[in-house]
Amino acid sequence: MSDTITVTDNRTGKTYELPITDGTVRAAEFRQIKTSADDFGLMVYDPAFKNTASCRSAITLIDGEKGILRYRGYPIEQLAEKSTFLEVAYLLLNGELPTKEEHDDWVNEVTHHTYIHEFLTRAMEGFKYDAHPMAMMVSFLGALSTFYKEAKNVRDAAVRREHIIKIIAKMPTLAAWCYRHATGRPYIYPDNSLSYTGNFLNMLFRMAEPKYEPHPVLERTLDVLFILHADHEQNCSANAARAVGSAETDPYCSLAAAAAALYGPLHGGANEAVLRMLRRIGSVKNIPDFIKGCKAGEHRLMGFGHRVYKNYDPRARVIKGLAHQVFTFTGRNPLLDIALELEKIALNDEYFVKRKLYPNVDFYSGLIYQSMGFPVEMFPVLFAIPRAAGWLSQWQEMLTDKEQRIARPRQIYTGSDVRDYVEMADRGKGSAS
Ligand code: CMC
Repeated sequence: MSDTITVTDNRTGKTYELPITDGTVRAAEFRQIKTSADDFGLMVYDPAFKNTASCRSAITLIDGEKGILRYRGYPIEQLAEKSTFLEVAYLLLNGELPTKEEHDDWVNEVTHHTYIHEFLTRAMEGFKYDAHPMAMMVSFLGALSTFYKEAKNVRDAAVRREHIIKIIAKMPTLAAWCYRHATGRPYIYPDNSLSYTGNFLNMLFRMAEPKYEPHPVLERTLDVLFILHADHEQNCSANAARAVGSAETDPYCSLAAAAAALYGPLHGGANEAVLRMLRRIGSVKNIPDFIKGCKAGEHRLMGFGHRVYKNYDPRARVIKGLAHQVFTFTGRNPLLDIALELEKIALNDEYFVKRKLYPNVDFYSGLIYQSMGFPVEMFPVLFAIPRAAGWLSQWQEMLTDKEQRIARPRQIYTGSDVRDYVEMADRGKGSAS
């Protein structure tokens, strides 16, 4: 038995043998299938990349049928239990868990790049008080590019490393300051004696106290949420980071593109949409009507469904457990009852069962964020901070992959055939002639 597929072109009667590698046929192989010498050759058509591998990647594995997620081979459940976000970021970027020395150096480097240029605070003032913090984050990621002109040397490994550290270090500062801007509070500068998430909480919530002491439960909860959100292989925003980065755009602008993709309600904006949905439903008694609307195609059950998972999203399972822990500290979020009942009904309803729609990462995360005191507009930003580690890992892997070129899909042209320009006076007369 050979690892090939035999294709017969019924237009010509010709047969072709195409190699299969890693369960995949190279799309370029189809180009040899032609009806004549001047035929362009067959292409594959795959809107939204539903069945197309765009890269080889060693970073993250998802088995959507079994509900498995691993970073560099390590199960997400083990990382969520035992690791920290900064260790996971190192793992994603470098392929291995750090030794003690590597870990300490890495944490030290990230901790010492958390400040942002003062000019950015002035840019911050240019935004209206009610600007969406995620749109601000997108802008600031791009704006950082103007401070680090050398970052465009993306083929230089040392330059890449320097800016990867800067971005991971500055994401919490930018995010916290967007929040402080929206709430009209003064910006709080980083405290290098605190952990990554401890310092983030400090920059978000510190008021007049001389030294902010993050609550260990909230600090660890946020760290676990950051681990769970750190990467998710070729999702919409990682694909944006790779596609834009493939033009050799610097990492700041490449990540601005990724953050813009994450902002959408079908992607990282879903956590915000879930909270708004739960508020709109308002009470358990309104759930049957809401479900009826989902099935009629009037709206979606936000936080449900996934392109890859056709089983329970393993991140949702960890987050659901985490929610119960956090609520013993913050008090039970009253929207939890609506979420639990929605999940119960949906998991037993034929519409959702048939389509294999299960809760995803965004279904319960918003409830935790809300109980921790975050306004809903901050939810996608909380997703973006850790995902920067994933975007940078994907971006770097793309740049060092010798097979990759500028991302440039083909199309099936469906427009007009060639026609002559029509003078304005002759337009709208039915016939163009
Ligand atoms: N509620 C109701 N119906 C749904 C939902 C949903 N949440 N998701 C999918 N469907 C239906 C959809 O209408 C379609 O039905 P039919 O075959 O009758 O037309 C079928 O299920 C397949 O859906 P699809 O839109 O073709 O699937 P997709 O792989 O293109 O979309 C998705 C995946 C995540 C965009 C989609 O499930 C969705 O919109 N979910 C709600 C938004 C959400 O929670 N997004 C977060 C995703 S996980 C975190 C992240 O990526 O950032």
